[in-house]
Amino acid sequence: MADNDRSVSRRRFIRSAIAGGAGVASANDLFRAATRGGQSDAVASDRLITLHVNGQPRRVDALKQETLAWTLRYKLGLTGTKLGCDRAECGACTVLIDNVPHYSCSVLTHTTRGKKIVTIEGLAAPDGTLHPVQQGVLDEQGFQCAFCMSGFIMAAVGFLKTNPTPTRSELAHRISGNLCRCQDYDKILTAIMRGAEHMRRT
Ligand code: FES
Ligand code: FES
Repeated sequence: MADNDRSVSRRRFIRSAIAGGAGVASANDLFRAATRGGQSDAVASDRLITLHVNGQPRRVDALKQETLAWTLRYKLGLTGTKLGCDRAECGACTVLIDNVPHYSCSVLTHTTRGKKIVTIEGLAAPDGTLHPVQQGVLDEQGFQCAFCMSGFIMAAVGFLKTNPTPTRSELAHRISGNLCRCQDYDKILTAIMRGAEHMRRT
């Protein structure tokens, strides 16, 4: 394959990962899916609820003790939301609930009834145009393995709705609840600051 083709393919792959968090999974996810998958078989009427996810009503059978991260990933197939620590420490599972960033691993699914949930899959426009923050990440190639990327983007989008003109240190402070195992913080901040510029223009 010619060098040019290779770089175009890599760019396409990165773009799809930014848009939907695809292409990155953890062994932890596979282990948990194997050990807990059987719990979703039985259907009880009080567990059947409607969630509003990415602008659409989604009917789902959710256990009372089930977390939103689990429901999104394993019931609704929205695997762009990552599960890292599963105990409110890393931010990989961050989604917006009524425009506020939340760790979805620490929110019970049933408590989100009637609320608007947005995941990384819901940020881009219907025609595929990336959200300005996603575009900033694409422009600056801000992540390495990108496992943490969805969480950072969702945390940043939520913050920038409240402060569209942050300083770099304000941004760093407000997304400090998100951790990157690749320690790519400087590039992440640069990418999100670029995204903030795009947001102001749009
Ligand atoms: S997986 Fe939710 S905070 Fe780490
Ligand atoms: S880029 Fe690898 S965990 Fe953040």
